[in-house]
Amino acid sequence: MTSQRRVISIQPGQPASDGAGVRLNRVIGGPGLERFDPFLMLDEFSTDNPDDYIAGFPPHPHRGFETITYMIEGRMRHEDHLGNVGLLGSGGVQWMTAARGIIHSEMPEQESGAMRGFQLWLNLPAKDKLGEAGYRDIPASEIPRINTASGVEVVVIAGEFDDGEIRQAGAVQRPHTQPQLFDLHLPAGSQVSPRLADGQRVMLYVYEGSLELPGANAQAAGAGRLVRLSDEGELHLTSAQGARVLLIAGTPLNEPIVQYGPFVMNSREEIEQALRDFRDGVLA
Ligand code: FE2
Repeated sequence: MTSQRRVISIQPGQPASDGAGVRLNRVIGGPGLERFDPFLMLDEFSTDNPDDYIAGFPPHPHRGFETITYMIEGRMRHEDHLGNVGLLGSGGVQWMTAARGIIHSEMPEQESGAMRGFQLWLNLPAKDKLGEAGYRDIPASEIPRINTASGVEVVVIAGEFDDGEIRQAGAVQRPHTQPQLFDLHLPAGSQVSPRLADGQRVMLYVYEGSLELPGANAQAAGAGRLVRLSDEGELHLTSAQGARVLLIAGTPLNEPIVQYGPFVMNSREEIEQALRDFRDGVLA
């Protein structure tokens, strides 16, 4: 019998403010919050108060990693120094490879109503940190949605979903870290068993309802909790009351990380270079 992935930790996020004063819940990578190689940060924004989001994220730089924004509800406008303009709408994803440098703004395209979604930061291997920047807007209509035999809806954003019955490639495939990013909607009493390669680091972020976790020390994780699982074994998730869960998995890079705000490199010298390049107008 194959073993199951164990629960290593269950932790809540922390309230934070970023950009020009956007209020959010930082789930990975804030003060006192661990990073989970290859993921550097996860923010959840979820509010129906425009004061929490209206200031947005005016122009700012990034270097050395990728940002993935998944909008559940609301509209955000992206503009960058390459001339890209994109409107991110409900259910859509923006996959931005900052690599050597990108300067962009992310501003809400609404003055009222709910704004709900996530931004995830995915590290790049050292050899790609100074590669060419790239940007993709993926509307909801281009992101595969499937229903498993047990009635679980899976939005396959990145990687490949495979439960032994259905296989579905996601909208995005990335080399090296091979990120798997699924939005799982479990109705009450359902279960789902996504297959993930041994060695992949796996996190579950429960953003609605609650989930019963695998393993001998079975326990439940409620909304707002990040669950880290061990890097090997099978995964069987059940939800008695129903849940919406972001499954985030990737192959660790095991490289040194030196971060200064929106720059994530492998050494202090490279961070100093990024700061000089930004100051001299040659970051991007
Ligand atoms: Fe940004």
